[in-house]
Amino acid sequence: MTRVLISGGAGFIGSNLAVKLSDAGYEVTVLDCLSAQIHGEDPDRSYTCRMIRDRVELIRGDVRDSNDWRKALEGADAVVHLAAETGTGQSMYAIEKYVDTNIGGTARLLDLLANEPHNVKKLIVASSRAVYGEGKYRCGTHGIVYPTSRRNADMASGDFEVKCPACGANVKMLPTDEESVLGPTSVYGHTKQSQEQLSMIVGRSLGIPTVAFRFQNVYGPGQSLKNPYTGILSIFSTRIKNGNDINVFEDGRETRDFVYIDDVTDAILLGLSRPEADFRALNVGSGECTDVLRIAGLLIQKYRSSSKVTVTGDYRIGDIRHNLADLRAIRETLGYEPRIGFEEGISRFIDWVEGQETEPDRYEASIREMENRGLFKK
Ligand SMILES: NC(=O)c1ccc[n+]([C@@H]2O[C@H](COP(=O)([O-])OP(=O)(O)OC[C@H]3O[C@@H](n4cnc5c(N)ncnc54)[C@H](O)[C@@H]3O)[C@@H](O)[C@H]2O)c1
Ligand SMILES: [Zn+2]
Repeated sequence: MTRVLISGGAGFIGSNLAVKLSDAGYEVTVLDCLSAQIHGEDPDRSYTCRMIRDRVELIRGDVRDSNDWRKALEGADAVVHLAAETGTGQSMYAIEKYVDTNIGGTARLLDLLANEPHNVKKLIVASSRAVYGEGKYRCGTHGIVYPTSRRNADMASGDFEVKCPACGANVKMLPTDEESVLGPTSVYGHTKQSQEQLSMIVGRSLGIPTVAFRFQNVYGPGQSLKNPYTGILSIFSTRIKNGNDINVFEDGRETRDFVYIDDVTDAILLGLSRPEADFRALNVGSGECTDVLRIAGLLIQKYRSSSKVTVTGDYRIGDIRHNLADLRAIRETLGYEPRIGFEEGISRFIDWVEGQETEPDRYEASIREMENRGLFKK
């Protein structure tokens, strides 16, 4: 396998992957529309666009356009499909855009693979932990349960805990494995589930080995500092660099599994080069969870900032409470082992942010957009 097409290859994960692949001797084509929400109005000034500029063949195009896919697929031995709209909150009111880009874009790719000549021998698709919704929990009475979205009434009264779907009691988080029931709580999560399942179904029928990676919260150098809709570390960093205070939602005890970018690109490389993961959906995470209050505190300390952290009790519809990946399957199939711990990763991320221009803080406006639609509750 020599030529890899990365859709969304100018973005955070894609650009880091492109560099790693080109270092490893692959030829890389990137199909990316260079979205202004991620890269700003002038892509020449985007960090990740500059990172890949001289190392890949860049095709500026849209995954919703079959002709752009057709050009990009020329000569490709493998496709890593990363291009997507990625904001969970934004997906709750930009529904057509999310469905058309994420599901429609994937459908156009699959149509070409099914109907036109090509050389593609491997398809990797970026799924997300969002396909699980709240994920896997244990109830004292009912054992393993997969709770649905938390109730508005509970959250409005300050109770953010996840409840047993059978008896309503508080339940205890467990690491979520790939056999868990899927139940996305956001439009974004739904599109990721569709992307994954469409790719798997068509990949099987065409005999193209397909792998879906369910990424947890990926962070590190290159993550967009412009996009106010996604990436808690970027959002907090941009607020701190602008001298603004940080509001932490819920009670601050919500957790995420943060996985460092290099661990993610390593997993993709393993999936590309080895057959053990073919036709599987695998979690990619760190297997550690960190609560949001700790993140805010750590960032403020490391940036030596005097921004204040306030736990507001506000919440967003569609957000999940906790997230922790069970990594047994990817360990067993690919020998994957996350290598960068959270403290180390955060230090590397911050060193990188310190070298970047401070972006204007568009966070308040993004929250107002949600609030106006009843998706953000105070
Ligand atoms: N970063 C995370 O924490 C995370 C977690 C789970 C899943 N994922 C998935 O991984 C993939 C990559 O995420 P990322 O963090 O690198 O995001 P990103 O926003 O940095 O990169 C996405 C890239 O796709 C491009 N793009 C968007 N719409 C497009 C379109 N219509 N046509 C062509 N290109 C388009 C953007 O310009 C951008 O360069 C996405 O599919 C995302 O859903 C990411
Ligand atoms: Zn119960």
